[in-house]
Amino acid sequence: MIEIKGLRKTYRAKGRRDREVVAVDGVDLTVGEGDVFGVLGRSGAGKSTLLRCVNMLERPDEGSVSVGGVELTALNRRRLRLARHGIGMIHQHFALLSSRTVAGNVAFALEVTGVSRAERRTRVAELLELVGLDGRADAYPSQLSGGQKQRVGIARALAARPKVLLSDEATSALDPETTDSILRLLLDLNRRLGLTVLLITHEMTVVKRICRSAAVMRDGRFVESGAVADLLHQPGSELARDLFPLDAPVSVPGQTVVDVTVGGEDADVPLLSEVSRRLDIDVQVLAGSVETLAAGRAGRWRLALPGDGAAAIHYLRSRGASVSTPPVDSLSAGSPAAGSFSAGSPAAGSFSAGSPAAGSFSAGSPAAGSFSAGSPAVSTPEEPS
Ligand SMILES: Nc1ncnc2c1ncn2[C@@H]1O[C@H](COP(=O)(O)OP(=O)(O)OP(=O)(O)O)[C@@H](O)[C@H]1O
Ligand SMILES: [Mg+2]
Repeated sequence: MIEIKGLRKTYRAKGRRDREVVAVDGVDLTVGEGDVFGVLGRSGAGKSTLLRCVNMLERPDEGSVSVGGVELTALNRRRLRLARHGIGMIHQHFALLSSRTVAGNVAFALEVTGVSRAERRTRVAELLELVGLDGRADAYPSQLSGGQKQRVGIARALAARPKVLLSDEATSALDPETTDSILRLLLDLNRRLGLTVLLITHEMTVVKRICRSAAVMRDGRFVESGAVADLLHQPGSELARDLFPLDAPVSVPGQTVVDVTVGGEDADVPLLSEVSRRLDIDVQVLAGSVETLAAGRAGRWRLALPGDGAAAIHYLRSRGASVSTPPVDSLSAGSPAAGSFSAGSPAAGSFSAGSPAAGSFSAGSPAAGSFSAGSPAVSTPEEPS
């Protein structure tokens, strides 16, 4: 649905004639029809510039941008304006007209496309119902909560029945609960209208809740890109690291520490108890979780395996898990969890494999909180609301 090849966009820094900022530096991107694709990256990585090149609010210096099979870089101004009707956009700060009501804001998007007054009225009512704002048509933006304002933004973006929705940090200004309700709405629209969504965000919850594909952007380039389910299995993936932070030591004396990723149906196999039982070994979970993502079920753990761990690693791989050595930089030096395992520290000595002291591992280590000594706390999960 969206196909970008070799996209490059450079800005000339104001005041310094010779300095150029390369905002987007050769990006290739394919977003399939009906996909929800998230672009992640730090401030200044070039995310907004990339998005603004997709609807040609910024003209790329190089490369091609095609949406729904139409090459946008080749269009003249009039045709581009028409093509833009097929691309809705929502913004972090909503960008509503404060002098117009909710209905007026949504209608505005239709006025510029030349829809008749009667048709506008019907369509606005339809849109407000779609985003859960029926009954608020006559309110002004100043009378709405942030979440409601964003719903107006979404209704306006969908007015011309676009097939593609672009979202630039649409939930960054919202609290977690409101973020959740907006994400649910976006997912619902994606499913009901078959809408293709390209969004940029710095929030991992957004990726967790709605993205099936993602890219990590740095210094104008994609450093990884693809289906979230696949990226999780890629050794060294930044997305995997951020979605499943494993705050735990990367080495344990006498044991082999590995990072293990499972996805899809494999995430629901009792893999750890299986490997422990089959090989008659103790498997220690240093950190990790299994979660339900938009991309499917997935789990990641950092495990300490006895000895060289070879048999366990072989077994885990044979059951579809990806196993890799933890990245050294993931050990945030000086973190409490890491500190107590540094070689030569008193704590480290008591941790040799098989020693009775091993049970006391978790004491004081936040990474292992759920395995704390003696009497683990057990409770029944709450029903999801
Ligand atoms: N209109 C502009 N003129 C000059 N430089 C610009 C312009 N827009 C963006 N830049 C520069 O291009 C780079 C990428 O900016 P961009 O806004 O795309 O980043 P971003 O990833 O969206 O950041 P943020 O997360 O803070 O929104 C930055 O160095 C920025 O200063
Ligand atoms: Mg931005």
